[in-house]
Amino acid sequence: MMKDFGPTVLIFLCVFNTICDTVDKSKFKICDQSGFCKRQRHIADGSSNFDVNLKSGRTFKDYAVFDIVNKDNGHKFLLEVHTYMDGTFRVLMNEESPLHPRYQVEHALLPDLKKASMEFESVGNGESWTLAHTGMRDKFYVQIFASPMKLDFYSGGKKVAVFNGRNSLKYEHLRNKPDVNDEPKEDGGEETPQEPSMWEEQFSSHSDSKPRGPESIGVDIDFPLTQNLYGIPEHADDFRLKDTSGREPFRLYNLDVFEYELDSPMTLYGSIPYMMAHSPERTVGVLWVNAAETWIDVKTGGSGIVDSIVNLVGGSEDKEGRTRWMSESGIIDAFFFLGPSPLDVFKQYAKVTGVTPLPQMWAIGSHQCRWNYNDEEDVRGVDANFDSHDIPYDSIWLDIEHTDGKKYFTWDSHKFPHPVEMIQNISSKGRKMVTIIDPHIKRDGGYFLHEDALANDLYVKDKNGKVYEGWCWPGSSSYLDFFDPKVREYWASRFALDKYPSTLDLYTWNDMNEPSVFNGPEVTMPKDMMHYGGWEHRQVHNMYGLMQVMSTFEGQLQRSENQLRPFILTRAHFIGSQRYSAVWTGDNMANWEHLKASIPMCLSLSISGMSHCGADIGGFFQNPDAELMLRWYQAAAFQPFMRNHAHIETKRREPWLFGDRTTALIRSAVRRRYALLPYWYTLFYENEQTGVAPMRPLWAHYPTDAKTFGIQDAHLIGESLLVHPVTDKGATSINVYLPHGVWYDFYNYIKYEGGTHTLTVNDDTIPVFQRAGSIIPTKQRIRRASSLMKDDPYTLFVAIDEKGEAHGTLYIDDQQTFEYRTGSYLKVDLTYKNNKLSSKVVHSGPSFNSKEWIERVVILGANKKARDVKAVSKSVGSVALESEGEHPLVIRKPAVLVNEDWEIDLHF
Ligand code: GLC
Repeated sequence: MMKDFGPTVLIFLCVFNTICDTVDKSKFKICDQSGFCKRQRHIADGSSNFDVNLKSGRTFKDYAVFDIVNKDNGHKFLLEVHTYMDGTFRVLMNEESPLHPRYQVEHALLPDLKKASMEFESVGNGESWTLAHTGMRDKFYVQIFASPMKLDFYSGGKKVAVFNGRNSLKYEHLRNKPDVNDEPKEDGGEETPQEPSMWEEQFSSHSDSKPRGPESIGVDIDFPLTQNLYGIPEHADDFRLKDTSGREPFRLYNLDVFEYELDSPMTLYGSIPYMMAHSPERTVGVLWVNAAETWIDVKTGGSGIVDSIVNLVGGSEDKEGRTRWMSESGIIDAFFFLGPSPLDVFKQYAKVTGVTPLPQMWAIGSHQCRWNYNDEEDVRGVDANFDSHDIPYDSIWLDIEHTDGKKYFTWDSHKFPHPVEMIQNISSKGRKMVTIIDPHIKRDGGYFLHEDALANDLYVKDKNGKVYEGWCWPGSSSYLDFFDPKVREYWASRFALDKYPSTLDLYTWNDMNEPSVFNGPEVTMPKDMMHYGGWEHRQVHNMYGLMQVMSTFEGQLQRSENQLRPFILTRAHFIGSQRYSAVWTGDNMANWEHLKASIPMCLSLSISGMSHCGADIGGFFQNPDAELMLRWYQAAAFQPFMRNHAHIETKRREPWLFGDRTTALIRSAVRRRYALLPYWYTLFYENEQTGVAPMRPLWAHYPTDAKTFGIQDAHLIGESLLVHPVTDKGATSINVYLPHGVWYDFYNYIKYEGGTHTLTVNDDTIPVFQRAGSIIPTKQRIRRASSLMKDDPYTLFVAIDEKGEAHGTLYIDDQQTFEYRTGSYLKVDLTYKNNKLSSKVVHSGPSFNSKEWIERVVILGANKKARDVKAVSKSVGSVALESEGEHPLVIRKPAVLVNEDWEIDLHF
């Protein structure tokens, strides 16, 4: 039970984890406590009254504009429909002449989106119009109906998404505050201030002044083909979205939710208003470009368990997935990505929001963090222990205590008197360091950042123009206004090595950037604070973290003169954050449920663009026992971002602290991660090219297999590895579903046909399966860090399919610079066919030299001994090779080089 402390004391006791162990829900709003959500949520289907004047249609090369009227009050709006490359439509709806400008999101989308030309046709007696990509009407079109307004989206002749089909659009126009003495107007309700919350709102002890009054928007978007809906991170809930009937809607409002709960639609640190709807026939994506507080109702006819059989039968109305999107302010700006396949939608979404740039190799290795490593001695000791325990890792991280009194860009002069030497010691071993840099600035007279911010007007202000003050780690703090270009420029300049005592081997962790304000409403900044450009915090809240990482990214680029790829880890995120940062799932807990939750959370983030995702290994709060720690390492070794991190009050949890057996098993899990780095790196490269994330749901590659639609305890890495980590305490067996085809256990080579298998597991088992038909490049030599593996030879795993074939790709570059963007890289295609493994260099950059060679080939599925094996290449000529075994059939030391074409012939 909590004692009755004042709110501030409570926050601190909670922050230091002494008296809470579950989320304090009273700190966060439910829909009914959020004025606009309450007004929007109860709008009945069929109750709205918007008409499109189709005769007003103005058509241009790649868009069309129509007049709309709200017949309840005569208020006028404009509807724009735009066509973009590859089957993408955008719908924009704004007031024709708003009283003040309404916020349209900037910065989140890629600049210069590629548009596509449009053709249009009036249908019937002019009661609807169709708009299509020129010459592609058979593939994609949208049909606009006039009265009531409705937009139907078609992909390959099937209706896949409907905008306002249930006629629940509510678009609150901006208005002047009525005088208290005014008679209420009877004009259909819209003009009447029916609720006090329209002009001022209270929550807990906080008051929101709402100077612009009501300006919310809400509309239904339905998916006629399917109830399998995914996305809208960040929530600690199922991957396939649950029905919200009788539950709160999913909320998107970046907040620092202390001790967040699972199976909950509550908001978390990030907001990506993007949803995918997947059916065996078609996949479609919808992006709701809005940075204000947003709630989403989802109706899937069940609690996420309506099994996909329902969806397969087809024909019944019940298979429709229904959603309703509600935002506090802004305009309607929605993209529709019409697929038709999941991979098509990933690519279409990436063309609008961007991709994760290829990380440096070290960034996909294993990271070691803690709140806090105490001093230089501690850092040296932890680093040395990794070596003495022979466990590879790539970077050590310092949390807030490394600073001088929580003043970012400074070092505690007692604990960290020699930062440059300390970083150099780490980097001399081929490793990196990362420090935390939060956006709240200590209001301290002698602190250069605070003084510069005051002198140059860099802070967020309150509505009276006074610098906003809130409470965060340093105590009294102010918040930089990253929406102001001069702030971003200033912030970026602070990373210069002559300003921040560091080296180019130090990278950045941006935390608390929701922004977290301990004494603010819902632990964040009040909505009536003011940003650059005259926008209220209300309009841009969910983008604050994006603006910070954008500026940090620029700072890292500048300090290396655009040579080195930046690395940033962020907690808050929004549409487009993937272009600048990796993400982790925040302050999770040391329990089995949180370990399980890391998979659906990172799957949701991955399909929404945030492809470099991970969760704190071990759980941030509380102490994992040896078994949980081990299982967490085993799962995280196969997730995109891998970092051990813990709260300041937890016991130390470096991998060697759980007994010899656990240390050995963690070592084995980490080494498996390192062996697969060439595969991960190739996938991250492909991610930059195509927008398809390395971590994928099974339905990405098995779109017609309804059994995969609800899977969230397993995932794919690329197309060729399926991982089903053990996430149950004391597990001695697990049930694994493998889609159709043949799979091989990646570690013991046992063959499985598609279907459900019950497998025995022991403490060293990580169930990972290679798809027959694939070739996976690995490096098996044990090193201290990924940088030391650079020239190591490869072991290729070739899993032959029923046709006797297998394919793979290997991508190599210098692992750290941007030179790959100008062609300095090597890409090879690997093929096994007709008993011959061949490698073809498909790209070899002029200034990129690779010394790597092939050390071993492991063939699965040949099932017989090879009589003789011969390698042919320019460097080796034609040589006979040794081979052994049947399954696996292992060929040793072909010694062919990766940068030449080669062949290995097998004779049976
Ligand atoms: C936040 C972060 C956590 C970090 C702590 C101190 O709680 O989520 O990872 O350790 O702040 O900086």
